[in-house]
Amino acid sequence: MNKLKNSLQQLMKPFKNSPSKEELDEEELEKIAQQEQKLFPYETLVAATRDFHLTHKLGEGGFGPVYKGKLIDGREIAVKKLSHSSTQGEKEFKNEAKLLARVQHRNVVNLLGYCVHMEEKLLVYEYVFNESLDKLLFKTNRREELDWKRRYEIIAGIARGLLYLHEDSHNCIIHRDIKASNILLDDKWVPKIADFGMARLFPEDQTHVNTRVAGTNGYMAPEYVMHGHLSVKADVFSFGVLVLELISGQRNSSFDMHTDAQNLLEWAYKLYKKGRSLEIMDPTLASSAATELVAMCIQIGLLCVQGDPQLRPTMHRVVLMLSKKPGHMDEPTRPGLPGTRYRRSRRPSGLSSTVGTSGYRSDQSHTSESTSNTLTTTATTSATTPGVEPDRGKRPMLSEE
Ligand SMILES: Nc1ncnc2c1ncn2[C@@H]1O[C@H](COP(=O)(O)OP(=O)(O)O)[C@@H](O)[C@H]1O
Ligand SMILES: [Mg+2]
Repeated sequence: MNKLKNSLQQLMKPFKNSPSKEELDEEELEKIAQQEQKLFPYETLVAATRDFHLTHKLGEGGFGPVYKGKLIDGREIAVKKLSHSSTQGEKEFKNEAKLLARVQHRNVVNLLGYCVHMEEKLLVYEYVFNESLDKLLFKTNRREELDWKRRYEIIAGIARGLLYLHEDSHNCIIHRDIKASNILLDDKWVPKIADFGMARLFPEDQTHVNTRVAGTNGYMAPEYVMHGHLSVKADVFSFGVLVLELISGQRNSSFDMHTDAQNLLEWAYKLYKKGRSLEIMDPTLASSAATELVAMCIQIGLLCVQGDPQLRPTMHRVVLMLSKKPGHMDEPTRPGLPGTRYRRSRRPSGLSSTVGTSGYRSDQSHTSESTSNTLTTTATTSATTPGVEPDRGKRPMLSEE
């Protein structure tokens, strides 16, 4: 105990106004120890957010409201109050949160810690200065702040963050909800992926009352929407949608360009096939865009949103394509549209997609890099033998933006 006391007192040294040795009583030491374990006392969060005052609210997603706060040491935080519908026990929640707090990368939001107070569960994140990408990209008066260089850096940063989650973190983490509002931008416009690991904290999402939990319309891969097949390639699909949104400044979920295309992906693909892909570019990028790079990013975006998950590149390949001039890039096939079955590339091109079929086969090799040993999977997939994907996954719930 004395050893612990000494080392904690050492830790306290750098803090301003830190109490003298004598003043540190047992209770205070415990408080410090709690911080070390990333467990925040509820009162600290109440004080930091002025009792979760409405003026501190940053937004609200499927998991509950998020509040901005300030700790007494000056650090700014974002506190997410998880909605009550999570039936996960306190112990499991703490275990998962501890695990997620260890996930650290320049392009992933830092989870500082967590808190349990009676029925309430809260997550404490670092506050990210420029908040989420959707608040800029889809606002006509703000999107000019995102010139081409920034957008390119955002694309490359998200790709690196996602690669880390998929391949470099201790376990493979499938994000499941990559979208513009889950990309936060710091004061230097470095993108940070938010809300990773949510499926881990909400393993019982089939009973979740708020249906946003399983993903967001416009970003979900068709095999996931229709059959609940969740793999890293579902994240690759969402990433591709985000790339095309960043280049065009258009939301895929509310696409309305008065064209014959039913969504952003189809529009981009049709223009690409005619050799006119640059026409999707946001007009505000005209003066800053490096057209060769823009064209390359459009092609990468289209490769990521292909209907066949097997044809989509891994994030490793995406990072490679973005980091240097790729000698050769594949030709993208048709984008996957929710409600359509993808067309295998070796099929004759005359065959059209079928709507609402359940013909997704379980013998596809994308399983090798998908659900085994994953941190973030649906309840169904996590119950499977490593490396073996079930025939049918759980049908996820749809959500509205
Ligand atoms: N760490 C953070 N720093 C700054 N803003 C944040 C942070 N986390 C969340 N936000 C803001 O709060 C909003 C609500 O977040 P969330 O509950 O995750 O819902 P969603 O991601 O579906 O919009 C986000 O859109 C974002 O603008
Ligand atoms: Mg979010």
